[in-house]
Amino acid sequence: MISIGSDHAGFQYKEQLKQLLDELGQKFEDRGTMSAESVDYPDYGHRVALDVSAGTADRGILICGTGIGMSIVANKHRAVRAAVCESATAARLARAHNNANVLCFGARIIGWEVAADVVRTFLSTPFEGQRHTRRIEKIHSLTGE
Ligand code: RB5
Repeated sequence: MISIGSDHAGFQYKEQLKQLLDELGQKFEDRGTMSAESVDYPDYGHRVALDVSAGTADRGILICGTGIGMSIVANKHRAVRAAVCESATAARLARAHNNANVLCFGARIIGWEVAADVVRTFLSTPFEGQRHTRRIEKIHSLTGE
C-alpha cells in the first residue's frame, strides 16, 4: 500500500496521482488534504510518514509546492528515507542507492508529465543492496534506530 498526501499547493497533482496509481494497479490511502484550501504541509507530511514508519504503508508519496517542506517533515520519522526527486534519474538512484521509501516533489517545480515519470520510476526500481546497505544502516544508527 502507498500512503499519499499533499498540502493545498500539491492538491491538484495528488488528484492526478490517484488516477496514475489506479492505472498502475497500485493500492493507496489518501491522507489528505482534500481541497485546494490553504493548509499546513507538516500536518499531512506527518500522517504519511507515520504510515511508512509504522509499516502500514510500503511507500509514501508527498507533494507540496517544492517537495522540500514535506521531505524535511518526513525525514524526522524513524526508518523513513524521504527524497525530493525532480527527474526520473533522481528517482531511480533514490531507490537503487538510498532505498528511499518516501518520494517528495513540488507541484510548483516540475510539470505533471515529469512527475508521472518520477512516480513510475520510483515505484518500479528495486534497491541495489550490497555496499548501499551498510551506508543506509549508518544513517539510522545515529538515532539508535
Ligand atoms: C505553501 O505555500 C508552500 O510553502 C508549501 O507547499 C511547500 O512548498 C513548502 O515546502
